[in-house]
Amino acid sequence: TKGPGRGPLGLRFEPVAPNRADAVVVPPGYAQDVVIRWGDPLFRDVPAFDPRRQSAAAQKRQFGFNCDFLEILDHDRDVKLLVANHEYTSEELMYPGYDPAAPTREQVETSWAAHGLSVIAVRAARRDGRYEPIVGHHMNRRFHTQTEFELSGPVAGHPLVRTSADPAGRTVLGTLNNCAGGITPWGTWLTAEENFNQYFANAGRVTDPVQAQRLTRYGLPSGETERKWERFDDRFDVAKEPNEPNRFGWIVEVDPHDPTSTPKKRTALGRFKHEAATPRVTKDGRVAFYMGDDERFDYLYKFVSRDKVKRGTSAAARRANRDLLDHGTLYVARFTGDSPGEIDGSGRLPADGQFDGAGEWIPLVFGTRSYVPGMSAEEVLLFTRLAADQVGATRMDRPEDVEPSPRSGKVYVALTNNTNRGAAGRAGADEANPRTNNKHGHVLELTEDRNDAARTRFTWNLLLVCGDPADPSTYFGGFPKEHVSPISCPDNVAFDPHGNLWISTDGNALGSNDGLFGVVVEGRDRGRTTQFLSVPRGAETCGPVIRDDRVLVCVQHPGEIDGASADAPASSWPDGGGSIPRPSVVTVWNTRGRKIGV
Ligand code: FEO
Ligand code: CA
Ligand code: CA
Ligand code: CA
Repeated sequence: TKGPGRGPLGLRFEPVAPNRADAVVVPPGYAQDVVIRWGDPLFRDVPAFDPRRQSAAAQKRQFGFNCDFLEILDHDRDVKLLVANHEYTSEELMYPGYDPAAPTREQVETSWAAHGLSVIAVRAARRDGRYEPIVGHHMNRRFHTQTEFELSGPVAGHPLVRTSADPAGRTVLGTLNNCAGGITPWGTWLTAEENFNQYFANAGRVTDPVQAQRLTRYGLPSGETERKWERFDDRFDVAKEPNEPNRFGWIVEVDPHDPTSTPKKRTALGRFKHEAATPRVTKDGRVAFYMGDDERFDYLYKFVSRDKVKRGTSAAARRANRDLLDHGTLYVARFTGDSPGEIDGSGRLPADGQFDGAGEWIPLVFGTRSYVPGMSAEEVLLFTRLAADQVGATRMDRPEDVEPSPRSGKVYVALTNNTNRGAAGRAGADEANPRTNNKHGHVLELTEDRNDAARTRFTWNLLLVCGDPADPSTYFGGFPKEHVSPISCPDNVAFDPHGNLWISTDGNALGSNDGLFGVVVEGRDRGRTTQFLSVPRGAETCGPVIRDDRVLVCVQHPGEIDGASADAPASSWPDGGGSIPRPSVVTVWNTRGRKIGV
């Protein structure tokens, strides 16, 4: 019979219990350390971080706010490169005395600088799992809202991406709302522009019906924005600069190994609220990238390159693959259930005992060829959601991160939640999204036809239907529910070296803090879910990196609780003593020098 036993390799630790601690909680026998915090310097001659004396000039040289995607890349024998997204700013948590009705120019420009990306060289300690940031290392970089990015691929130069500051439509200042991401087989970093809509004001003043429909489908605010950047730069006002939002919402490729490189917004991968992009090489040597559009009732996508990839991560391979992401086919997924009878929305397993079925990848665009009636190829890439709406794609419960298993090739999709599923006038449950009022989300496993990422048909099943295991609407891959950790709102997914799926959560609807969980996906323990850590109050867990000897996470937005502010913080992590909370990267290791979970 299935039971807890010693547990599978990689997941042999005592589960962390649900809690509300203002701390990162790890299993007995594990230690932790903060690697880098919001406001820590990347360069020399940066003033020590002081929440009462912040400036845009300093923030451009410090680690940004709200770290999300995280990866540790090899640089040389002693040095690794930590790369991290800075998704968004929360002014009320950042600036003491902040007045949301009247932000100052210095505050706004500091927030511009706190967005974006960081690359920082780190040195691993020999004796434990610590990493020491190397301030002033020549590889360190900060990208923010005033840094140049290049538009690349089919949409570059198109009239719909030209602006008064950039009449050629090829150079964009900044990257916004970078959520999760991925690493290409050639070692570059993909970072996903997600909720870019929130930065652009006054969609309600647009009278052209075609443009208005596009702005509405992408959720741009009709009046002023929450941060009011439009008061300080016209490009954040669509009534004044209508094409500026079209320059955000892309997958961006960064080469952290070349400190002089300009990142490229890869328009061939479509424009939506990109959560991430994770690769798998096809049988014939091309590369597929899986991508979610994180919105209620939006879609799962796949891009397959036209050309073959040159193997390896050498400088020669990076050079050979530098245009790979500019040519390929963009697909959207349709899921079909195979169970007889209706899916009733309760989450109860259907008659055949599985939420499962078949599916297909529907092509939207290949190069200059559009497969969508009435839309040009460029329009499909710019307004991908409107294209996908036309072809019968399946409306999902907020597709977040997607990750192919390096071991089996099966693809895992985090569907974080959707409380509007089954609401009046909205889509009801289907076999791939089987719960109405889906507060806790689910995880889908997709197997490509012939296990080849280039194919256009697949089968699928649900690995997890999340929540409290005592809730009859939950499912843990058939594993006995008395032996699993409760889990809610899966967001980022990663694999450990043993083939286990690790899931970080965002917005735990069970009332306890968010965390990081390991899940067995194959064999007799399939579905066994064990919590490895929890993050402080108000935080989400992001960017997990699971290595043999270390686990790293980003603790994003600690203290983000309704009514909290920099004057009355809801968390004092990590500095303690009533200080304001600081989003940070944390590393965890085994105190006896053992590998993680063995
Ligand atoms: Fe930024 Fe979809 O989480
Ligand atoms: Ca079924
Ligand atoms: Ca996310
Ligand atoms: Ca999320």
